[in-house]
Amino acid sequence: MTETTTRTAITRPVFVRHDDAALRTLHIVTWGCQMNAYDSLRMADVLRPMGYREVATDDADMVIFNTCHIRERAADKLFSALGRLRAVKEARGGRMMIAVAGCVAQAEGAEILRRAPYVDLVVGSQAYHKLPELIAAVEAKRASVIDTAFPAEQKFDFLPEDQSGQGAIANLAIQEGCDKFCTFCVVPYTRGAEQSRPAAAIIAEAKRLVARGAREIALLGQNVNAWHGEGLDGRDWSLARLLDALAEIPEIGRLRYTTSHPRDMGDDLIAAHRRNAKLMPFLHLPVQSGSDAILTAMNRRHTVAGFRRIIEALRAARPDMAFSSDFIIGFPGETDADFRATMALVREVEFALAYSFTYSRRPGTPAADAAAQVAPALAHERLMELQDLLRDQQHAFNRAQVGRRFEVLFTGAGRYPGQVAGRSPYLQPVVVAGTGLADGAIGPGTMTEVTITSANPNSLMGTINQEQIAA
Ligand code: SAH
Ligand code: SF4
Ligand code: F3S
Repeated sequence: MTETTTRTAITRPVFVRHDDAALRTLHIVTWGCQMNAYDSLRMADVLRPMGYREVATDDADMVIFNTCHIRERAADKLFSALGRLRAVKEARGGRMMIAVAGCVAQAEGAEILRRAPYVDLVVGSQAYHKLPELIAAVEAKRASVIDTAFPAEQKFDFLPEDQSGQGAIANLAIQEGCDKFCTFCVVPYTRGAEQSRPAAAIIAEAKRLVARGAREIALLGQNVNAWHGEGLDGRDWSLARLLDALAEIPEIGRLRYTTSHPRDMGDDLIAAHRRNAKLMPFLHLPVQSGSDAILTAMNRRHTVAGFRRIIEALRAARPDMAFSSDFIIGFPGETDADFRATMALVREVEFALAYSFTYSRRPGTPAADAAAQVAPALAHERLMELQDLLRDQQHAFNRAQVGRRFEVLFTGAGRYPGQVAGRSPYLQPVVVAGTGLADGAIGPGTMTEVTITSANPNSLMGTINQEQIAA
């Protein structure tokens, strides 16, 4: 069932010209995960037929904030940005529509309009396909509109075809929502229950992305490896089977999937890393903590030993496999021994990349009410110690690439004249200066072997094997 709530207490001028042919400007501000970045592209797709064209500045006919609720500070960004935009709207005599989308919209709903009554539209993460009718409702009623319902239909089935032109590296959402209910996390509440798109829709979208130049496709989902959907043969497919089908599209050179949960890292998916050559040897696998007591309190439903077994099995399947992960430090009840166990796991696994944060209390999640909250200063001290180690590991991983030769997918020009830039199999930016080739010999989508000559903390430099290009 869908519900649209309107608030009529606020009267306001008509913001947007009704003339459908008129060109209207649109500015989307995106925070949060790759799913939000993908959703923002899709919102632009929905609004394009209404005459909206994206502009780089926030002095636009419509400004959408696509928000993240994962940590307190992520959510706070919205209200300070809204405060700034209010002045821009006033300077335009009110002729601006301000919309709040994404996970804060989903979680806070009417509270946003209470704190910022000049917001015109609050649209939850599952209602983007309804944007045209919601905008029409704002214009007709001259009142703010909220839609944060979880409709019965999947938004993906109702969004127009992707027209975003993402370039050589493209994201494709295949799964949304989460049924895991980790005790710290808002995602099951902001994104709803796990839903998988059918294989046919995913393959069709992949082909459209390829036709517009994509050579690398990253499959997105909040729990992407829990994906299971209707296959082309009508049977239930696993992610491993879907990856095999996508690998049959000749123009696709590289495949990835993110974010995975250790619970769903099945044997068939591990085996796919052995047999599917297009699957990149890099996996983001959040572990959160190296202590079983904390993993239990987090309701992660896997153990440290279980995580270790997955890493070993993947390294056995592909010896060049590298890993990134997420960590939460200072989860309620975390003792010094628990933290030491996390440090020990990090030393043992050696991550190529990692994201780590102190625990942030999220009202409405079970852990928010736990008695044993860790003092913020102590959590911060532990986080700094962990981040020192993770930074050293990232630098060591980058340095270890020097002298290696691997295929780089080029995405465009580098920062300085004559440079071309791309991505390594491990997502590191790679820059090649002075290729000695004619301009344009290497363009977005070119995949060719590069020998890595030096490493910076966040990027690599390399040279191109000339015969490779001539061939
Ligand atoms: N679905 C993914 C990650 C989703 S959120 C998974 O299961 O791992 C991305 C990351 O944000 C999480 O991995 C976690 O490390 C972090 N995170 C989530 N809630 C948090 C909170 N309340 N405080 C601090 N970090 C949090
Ligand atoms: Fe959040 Fe856990 Fe679901 Fe990941 S698996 S989205 S951390 S509840
Ligand atoms: Fe943030 Fe929502 Fe993504 S809370 S991390 S934008 S799913």
